Amino acid sequence: MRARRPWTGWGLLVGVALVVSGCAIGGDTPGEFPQNALDPAGPIARQQDALWNLVFPIAVGVFVLVQGLILVAVIRFRDRGEDAPPQQVAGNTRLELIWTAIPALILAVIAVPTLGGIFALAEDPGEEALAVRVIGKQFWWEFEYLGDEGQGVVTANELHIPVDRPIRLQMEALSPQVPDTFDEEDPDASRSDQSMEGVIHSFWVPRLAGKQDVIPGYERLMRIEADEPGQRYSGQCAEFCGLAHAEMRFEVVTHTADDFETWLDEQAEPAGTDLEGLAAEGQELFGAHCVACHALDGHPEDAEIRIGPNLTHFASRQVFAGGIFDNDDPEQIAAWLRDPSDAKPGAQMPDLGLDDDQISALVEYLQSLE
Ligand code: CUA
Repeated sequence: MRARRPWTGWGLLVGVALVVSGCAIGGDTPGEFPQNALDPAGPIARQQDALWNLVFPIAVGVFVLVQGLILVAVIRFRDRGEDAPPQQVAGNTRLELIWTAIPALILAVIAVPTLGGIFALAEDPGEEALAVRVIGKQFWWEFEYLGDEGQGVVTANELHIPVDRPIRLQMEALSPQVPDTFDEEDPDASRSDQSMEGVIHSFWVPRLAGKQDVIPGYERLMRIEADEPGQRYSGQCAEFCGLAHAEMRFEVVTHTADDFETWLDEQAEPAGTDLEGLAAEGQELFGAHCVACHALDGHPEDAEIRIGPNLTHFASRQVFAGGIFDNDDPEQIAAWLRDPSDAKPGAQMPDLGLDDDQISALVEYLQSLE
């Protein structure tokens, strides 16, 4: 006996509507879809997008054709209860040749630009590139500018880059608890215990390039490049890495070549020490509570340990704690200092048991670090 299931059709319709409503193509307001990989903002993302533009329509065509034929077969040749059993056939050389040759042809057409793209993206951009070491920690990203040009600048949560120049990202994942002892002269020696305790992350700025997994104990290379100065592109960790994975975000900030040089020179300067009042108090508290984990170039107590983010120019950034809080908002900084794992569950920074006066002084100090 055949059961009628009228809800199957409705279920299908609702399902399709849900899937389609999840699609966001383009957008008139800038920043409306800040992570739209279909809106590339640099040559590498454009190359990857071009591949998508080729493959996607072919895939849609194949899907519609195959599903359409299935529907025709199901409806037209359905069992009406009165037919004799269908004639049994085995093999049809012509059909088999056709449905082997067409997919082979499609795959060959897709393979040419795909393989070309893979090799092009794997090419080392060479001397021309800006080299940045990218470190995935739980749950934030650190950026270290390498070579003489980099001047030893280390930042967190914001990757500043010049436009129209390839950026060579040398990426690794490190333990959130063990100090980073990276030595540019001997990079392999420094990638030891601290990396084995790390977890896998994935670096993703949808508008600039595809994803790259970052794996403990290895160095992963990736290239990004942007065209337009003065932009902020949002990125995020795209591989589940623990409790605060969804809050492991960052931003890529683009500059003209000159502006980038100025920014880098400013970042290479130590923080000012000539402080008064509350900020001076905060500086002292920083020496008592924070130097065990945070580097801060210019602080009177040698603040050089790289466990948490380097805070030398904290106030020059717009976001902190994995790119989820606003540096300009003293309330958000205070809430973070009061209890980091309450502000961001999973955060590795301990609750330092600071009282409200100490928190105010530290907020004042941090906000003075232009
Ligand atoms: Cu790091 Cu997910």
